[in-house]
Amino acid sequence: MTTRLYQEHLSTLIQRYEEAMSYFALDAIVLASGEKEYYFQDDHTFPFHAYSGAQQWLPFTLNAETYIVLQTSQKPTLVWPLRDDFWHAPNPVPSGDWQQSWQIIEARKTDTWFDSLPKKTAWLGPKPMAFSVPCDGLKAYVDYSKAIKTPYEIEATRRASVRAVQGHLAAKEAFLSGASELDIHFAFLQASQQTANQEPYPGIVGLNEHAAVLHYEHKSIESLPTSRTLLIDAGANEQGYASDITRTFTRYDDDFSALVNDLDGMEQKLCQQALSGVAFKDLHHTTIKGIAQLLLDHKICALSVEEQLEKRIPQVFFPHGLGHLLGLQVHDVGGHQIDKNGTLSKPDDSAPFLRLTRTLEENMIITIEPGLYFIPMLIEKMTAEIPCHGCDLNKIQHFMPYGGIRVEDNLVVKNTHTDNLTREAFKKQS
Ligand code: GLY
Ligand code: MN
Ligand code: MN
Repeated sequence: MTTRLYQEHLSTLIQRYEEAMSYFALDAIVLASGEKEYYFQDDHTFPFHAYSGAQQWLPFTLNAETYIVLQTSQKPTLVWPLRDDFWHAPNPVPSGDWQQSWQIIEARKTDTWFDSLPKKTAWLGPKPMAFSVPCDGLKAYVDYSKAIKTPYEIEATRRASVRAVQGHLAAKEAFLSGASELDIHFAFLQASQQTANQEPYPGIVGLNEHAAVLHYEHKSIESLPTSRTLLIDAGANEQGYASDITRTFTRYDDDFSALVNDLDGMEQKLCQQALSGVAFKDLHHTTIKGIAQLLLDHKICALSVEEQLEKRIPQVFFPHGLGHLLGLQVHDVGGHQIDKNGTLSKPDDSAPFLRLTRTLEENMIITIEPGLYFIPMLIEKMTAEIPCHGCDLNKIQHFMPYGGIRVEDNLVVKNTHTDNLTREAFKKQS
């Protein structure tokens, strides 16, 4: 990553936060990475993820108890936690050109580095210290602009996509060789060069029926030499920025793989429509219609698209949202926020799980992730509650052992096209 990209990114952040300080009449803002939390009655901690608002400022992974102090017209200050005990490896401040733009203070836990801060200092992050003043609305104000990524953030996400795609290709090979879910996950981690704790979210690796569990979190050790389906939803991190990619691989060339191909084709069309000015809610509704058409084309449901929409049949097979903002957090902040004041636009009850209700803008990074699943609980609910649902239950029984399908890409929204980071990475590696 070039120094220029980082410095431009930092200037954008400084400008955004100086505007916020002026708007709220603040003298300073402290961003805190957070503290490690111990398991109950134990002496080791939960995996640590820095607060994304702090992580955004620095080009390396932030540790706990690291603070950033912002004051108008001053270089930002990094308060670096000094560790000099013999239990842990030393943690020097990372070297690099980034230091030119910072003042750096090394502080022990007992040091009162905050004593000289001005009175009106607000706090963003967990566990505010007593000196900070409350500032309602500050978090929403800064979160809103996080949706628009800087060129540095776009480049980090592009690299995170490349790393994850290396993992997906290795996972596909492991699946075709008959590996267990656990071994497929290991193949993913090895090829994407990360530990499980470094993944931006716990990778989902589901074989066969498990592909129908949206957030399947187990990794079976059982090898299945004739497994039919692999649904892998797994990403990687670069400078804290996440990729979030799903592919559904099949072993056989049959009616299920034909459904996978058609969903994949639909996903690519949706990606092309994700342009600035498009209301994401509308794109979600286009997806629901597309699912209805697939159900009809593949003779899963005999009702017309209009009848299916009226009875909410597509939502039985596609119960989640089309996508979300992507950034330092996999489900990045501000997806329901329509202005800096924190006004919310909640999804309506036809799409209750939609995480993004904003109108798309240039340089937002989003996911597009339609799916089509055979989820026993939802099929049973449909047969119990929707009269004349028109679905072929024998056909559904036939598809159930395959689980389901999701195809998920990461895009940079532009005015006239979308930059599909995921397809670009697959193309380069094929
Ligand atoms: N991996 C979680 C999601 O796709 O939203
Ligand atoms: Mn996603
Ligand atoms: Mn995902």
